[in-house]
Amino acid sequence: MDNPILELENVSVFYPGQRLLFKKPRLIQALHSINLSLYRGEILAIVGESGSGKSTLGKSIVGLIDNFNGNYIFNGQMYNPNEMNSLRREIQIIFQDALSSLNPRMRISFAIKEVIKLHHPEVDSEKQLLDLLNKVDLSEDAKDKYPHELSGGQRQRACIARALAVKPNILICDEIVSALDVSVQAKILNLLMKLVHEDGLSILFTTHDLQVVESFAHRVMVMKSGQIVEKGTVQDVFQNPMDSYTKTLLQSIPEKV
Ligand SMILES: Nc1ncnc2c1ncn2[C@@H]1O[C@H](COP(=O)(O)OP(=O)(O)OP(=O)(O)O)[C@@H](O)[C@H]1O
Ligand SMILES: [Mg+2]
Repeated sequence: MDNPILELENVSVFYPGQRLLFKKPRLIQALHSINLSLYRGEILAIVGESGSGKSTLGKSIVGLIDNFNGNYIFNGQMYNPNEMNSLRREIQIIFQDALSSLNPRMRISFAIKEVIKLHHPEVDSEKQLLDLLNKVDLSEDAKDKYPHELSGGQRQRACIARALAVKPNILICDEIVSALDVSVQAKILNLLMKLVHEDGLSILFTTHDLQVVESFAHRVMVMKSGQIVEKGTVQDVFQNPMDSYTKTLLQSIPEKV
């Protein structure tokens, strides 16, 4: 197997707790000694109940969390927490709420071209915009719309196109299909699989939906209270879960009819 494109070793993350008068805020630990490897062209799912730390993990990988301890290795090279911003071109994150991720006063074309011009001024931004819309299966007339004029699925495609405009190696998808209906979900997941196969993108995909994991991911990591309690191939974890928490999660999947 290739070397991982991204590795986290013993990563712990803290949030500032409540600030009491004249006292320093207490730090609250949200991730505990996380070890993670993500390979090129891999879809790695992170599952776990609400509050288990999935979003915190995604945000800490893109440098959005201040209190980060542990080793961060991208493409075999170690980075300090304050250097993670320099990886913005390599790693992009997309969130569940596409509407608030997009500027309501910007047409889709402007939002995407702005990113192209910033990160790749050498390319023809109009042509690149059309290529990206085509890649994410958005019709050309979507480019002249404002975010509120698109459906939820179309908005999420616009967010994917904007993230791809950077030409990242890794895409972190934080619950990006959770708010969409099942048929739209399937189309977005198919699109992501196409990107993995055609472009060798690596995807870290957080979700609380185990059925999505089963149909889509290569490997899965199960989180509970900021810790990874189980990891393995989707087949192994689903057929032979070792941890009692994973077993409970799997038992809660509704029977297929
Ligand atoms: N900005 C913040 N400040 C303080 N604590 C936070 C902050 N963001 C998250 N937390 C805490 O960190 C823990 C992990 O939260 P996180 O949002 O990562 O969970 P999650 O697994 O993504 O949950 P969900 O499935 O609801 O999205 C929770 O206890 C949460 O309250
Ligand atoms: Mg979350």
